[in-house]
Order: sequence, then structure tokens, then C-alpha cells
Amino acid sequence: MTNPKRLSGKVALVTGGSRGIGAAIVRRFAAEGAKVAFTYRSSPNAAQHIVAGIEAEGGSALAIAADSADPVAVEHAVDHTASHFGCLDILVNNAGGGTPELIGEATLANYEHIFAVHVRAAFVAMNAAAKLMPSGGRIITIGSINAERLPFTHGALYSATKAALVGLTKGAARDLGPRGITANVIEPGPIDTDLNPADGPWAAPARAALATGRFGDVSDVAGLAAYLASAEARFITGAALAIDGGYSI
Ligand SMILES: NC(=O)c1ccc[n+]([C@@H]2O[C@H](COP(=O)([O-])OP(=O)(O)OC[C@H]3O[C@@H](n4cnc5c(N)ncnc54)[C@H](OP(=O)(O)O)[C@@H]3O)[C@@H](O)[C@H]2O)c1
Repeated sequence: MTNPKRLSGKVALVTGGSRGIGAAIVRRFAAEGAKVAFTYRSSPNAAQHIVAGIEAEGGSALAIAADSADPVAVEHAVDHTASHFGCLDILVNNAGGGTPELIGEATLANYEHIFAVHVRAAFVAMNAAAKLMPSGGRIITIGSINAERLPFTHGALYSATKAALVGLTKGAARDLGPRGITANVIEPGPIDTDLNPADGPWAAPARAALATGRFGDVSDVAGLAAYLASAEARFITGAALAIDGGYSI
């Protein structure tokens, strides 16, 4: 059950909203009354399908093509959202993924790309959004529990970017707290998506680390994001909140 009016009157931007966790957050925010813009990189049909579904329910959504590797495109997405809907109250930095690489074999190009998509894009978006956000604004960044615990190989670059997001968020919380804007990181454990399928090659060891014995659903993360975006969460800032089925115990 969702409260259909908890985000009524709010405008949100979600990066990487065409699939997976981002798409669930877009749909959840819209169901709770927000007008929602979201970016995508390579899934225009999925993006338009989400817009059509939200509009069919009487909501408002906007899909923006913007590769998070391009800081100009990211800043444009923030400005486009505010000009299209008239303001910006909530930013969710979600776009991401990553190519698994072993230290000793990793390339500088992959290092630069994953830091650009995960860290630079989050900085660019929150820096631009902070210029526009009123009191009550919310910055939510999707990190990973692998910033805290990394029980497998090939994850050094991914983990490093997700850890960097925690520091970036703590600083943003300090800088923006006096203006009534919060900044938090959500650190999901294994969530069943295209990036990390519950029946994929990495699934068995991940499932073994879970107290729940099963992967999370995208709706689990969307529910936490909606709570952090709501007025109720006004005293939570600078936090890195695990939602991991006990993966980090
Ligand atoms: N699934 C998990 O177990 C898990 C756990 C912890 C954290 N996370 C984090 O959660 C976030 C979403 O992951 P997911 O599992 O939902 O992945 P996913 O199913 O692969 O979806 C990724 C989404 O991000 C978009 N995206 C990827 N690279 C982009 C880029 N360079 N520019 C713009 N959009 C981009 C994709 O858009 P297109 O399809 O248009 O390219 C898609 O909408 C990521 O930051 C990931 O690190 C996931």
C-alpha cells in the first residue's frame, strides 16, 4: 500500500529511470503524486513505456536522453526538469552499472568511465540541483552495500565509486542542511534486476550471504527512496542506509 499523496506537488528527477531500480523509483514517486523526470541512455522504448504508463494513470512524467558519462548532458537534465515542471524538489542519482575487473587487469579507461558515471555525474547533478532546490529539497543517491562489504573479486572499482558517494553525500548534507535540504545514500544489497539477476552467474554466492536467503525486489528500494523523499524523513541526512536483506551482517 502506498500513500498516494505523500509526494503531491513535488517535482523529481531520477537518473537512469528506464529500467531496474530507477524505473521502480520513477513509478513509485509518480504513484505518490510527484511529477517525475528521468534520464536514460540506451532504452528509449522502455523510457517511453514508463511515461505512457504514468500518464495513463493521470500522472506527469518526462523522459530525457542523457548519458551520465557526459557532465553537460547531466546538468542539462537537471535544468530541463526544472524548466519543464517549474521547479525541482527531489534528485535521485541512480544511473550506473559497471564492468567487473580484477586489480592487475583493470584499465584506466574503465576506471575513468565508472567514476564519471557514478561519482562525477552525482556531483554534477547535485551541484546543479542545489542551485534550484527550495527548503525541503531531497538528494538521494543509490550507492551499494558493496561500499561497506565486498565478499567477491572483480569489484574494486565499483566498490570505490560507491564508497566515494558516501563522502560526497556527507559533505552535501553539511553544506545544504542549513537550507533545509537533506542528502542521503541508499545502499542496496542484491536486488533482482538486469544488472544483477537473481538467477545470474553471480547469484549463488550473493544469496549465500543474505539473511533473507533471497534477493531484494526493486520495490523494496523504491519504498525507502519514497520515504526519504517525503516530509517525514526531514531529520535523516548524511546517512548511508543499508537495505540489503542482512548481506552486511
Ligand atoms: N541490482 C543490484 O543488486 C544493485 C545493488 C546495489 C546497487 N545497485 C545500483 O543501483 C543502480 C541501478 O542498478 P540496477 O540494478 O537497476 O541496474 P539496471 O537494471 O541495469 O538499470 C540501470 C539503469 O541505469 C541506466 N543507466 C546505466 N548507465 C547509464 C548512463 N551512463 N547514463 C544514463 N543512464 C544509465 C540504464 O538506462 P538505459 O537502459 O537507458 O541504458 C537503466 O535505466 C546502479 O547505480 C547500481 O550500481 C544495484
